[in-house]
Amino acid sequence: MSSKAYVVPVDPKNPGGNAAPGVDPASMWASLPQAQKPAKVGTSHIFYGTPGQDVTALISLGDGFDSKAGDARREIVRKAVGSGVKSVKALGDGVSEAVIDASTDPHAAAVAAHLALYDFTLKTSPPSRFDPRGTEGVPKKLAISTGISSADWDSGVIYANAQNLARTLMELPANMMTPTAFCKRVQLEFSGVPNVEIIVRDEAWAAEKGMRTFLSVTQGTDQPAKFLEIHYKGAPSKDAQPLAFVGKGITFDSGGISLKQSADMKLMRGDMGGAATVVSTLLAIAQLKLPINVVAVTPLCENLPGPKATKPGDIIYAMNGKSVEVDNTDAEGRLVLADALYYASTEFKPHTVIDLATLTSAMDIALGEIYSGVFTTSDTLWSRLSAAGESEYDRFWRMPLDEDYGPQIYSSNADLCNTGGKPGGACTAALFLKAFVDGIEAKDGNEPSVHWAHIDIAGTMEFTRPIPYQEKGMTGRPVRALVEFVKRLSTQ
Ligand code: BES
Ligand code: MN
Ligand code: ZN
Repeated sequence: MSSKAYVVPVDPKNPGGNAAPGVDPASMWASLPQAQKPAKVGTSHIFYGTPGQDVTALISLGDGFDSKAGDARREIVRKAVGSGVKSVKALGDGVSEAVIDASTDPHAAAVAAHLALYDFTLKTSPPSRFDPRGTEGVPKKLAISTGISSADWDSGVIYANAQNLARTLMELPANMMTPTAFCKRVQLEFSGVPNVEIIVRDEAWAAEKGMRTFLSVTQGTDQPAKFLEIHYKGAPSKDAQPLAFVGKGITFDSGGISLKQSADMKLMRGDMGGAATVVSTLLAIAQLKLPINVVAVTPLCENLPGPKATKPGDIIYAMNGKSVEVDNTDAEGRLVLADALYYASTEFKPHTVIDLATLTSAMDIALGEIYSGVFTTSDTLWSRLSAAGESEYDRFWRMPLDEDYGPQIYSSNADLCNTGGKPGGACTAALFLKAFVDGIEAKDGNEPSVHWAHIDIAGTMEFTRPIPYQEKGMTGRPVRALVEFVKRLSTQ
């Protein structure tokens, strides 16, 4: 016995909606006691039919919805639809399909419904769709659909599914999401998507390229490191300058010889969040067929202590020739990104480079889980990222990228030191990365030849408290903000 549940957001000032033939939200709303009507955003009122029949969930859009516009209005729709899907989920197995009335904002409604439905588990009974041994035949517990489909609804589904993929890549434990497994999974997710080329490089290739700071991080583990490169060519000219994404891909960060404490160390299975973000973003871009060329690269490895591991005080020559002192092996993210940023910026001559990394606990301390921190010297890039983030309510806050932090990382025996002390820890990490972005310095009175932004997602990688359309756990942020950024960049 299974039935449908209609999820209908209702504006208390103007109750109505397009649930389904024979379902009349306005009169259902009218039947509610007065005290329940101008309820807070997300309050659900469930109307049951006869047993085995359909259910209607009316979700309040809250008082004042009619006066809201733009980004604020969209977020109310997300909250209401997310709450509605959650309350339908709570009805249990009897309901097999949630039919969303998306008329208030089809894109936002699709996003919220698909994010709210997501719940990662590897419990075996009932079988989990997240079981990496194979998920064939395991259906979603609840199907999501909408009465009137549209391109905006479809784009919302793509955005949310991409974010959910990033969540899954981050949630899967490090024994199941090794660098090798990550590459295999990405190849599977992209199969059949046109205009995409995926190249998986091994350690021998990285050694030949001179990626010594990247390889210095993987020395303590037996798991082979990988360097994943994905090209999407959607621009009218295949030779048009690309946008480049670089994602930190530490599939487990124990800290290495500078071992972390054990409490909460398991969070570091998600230290490939930057890599998960960039590949998921690229997948959505390709599915949306955006007219732009994009390349994504992710250095992938484990950071473990072992007999061959890099030791504090070791000095490594990076691919760009600079010497780097490894003061702390737990500051490994900037080491793998150094070579990846140099490679991406020299090899593909991108107009814009954006790197994503769960880079510093200082970032989490500064902004917590609300904003991802953006470090950039480009005002135009900042304003584009910021606007896209607001539109998806996956927000960014600008942080300083300032040479005055330099003495903290330029004062060891090497050109650069991989730690800069506690003060401004996220800012010194960002400045460290800048030394490896080719073309970022203004030369001979000319503007820099590349726009670069570093996004530190150490704070936003995990929700420790739920929001109305997303459970606790790995967030998959800022995938939606980046997809929206690229969409606007490519179609403006
Ligand atoms: N992956 C961590 C940063 C991190 C910590 C992300 C907590 C999310 C939650 C990174 O590799 C790291 O260990 N950074 C150190 C750098 C320090 C040793 C300079 C940090 O922030 O403590
Ligand atoms: Mn670390
Ligand atoms: Zn790390």
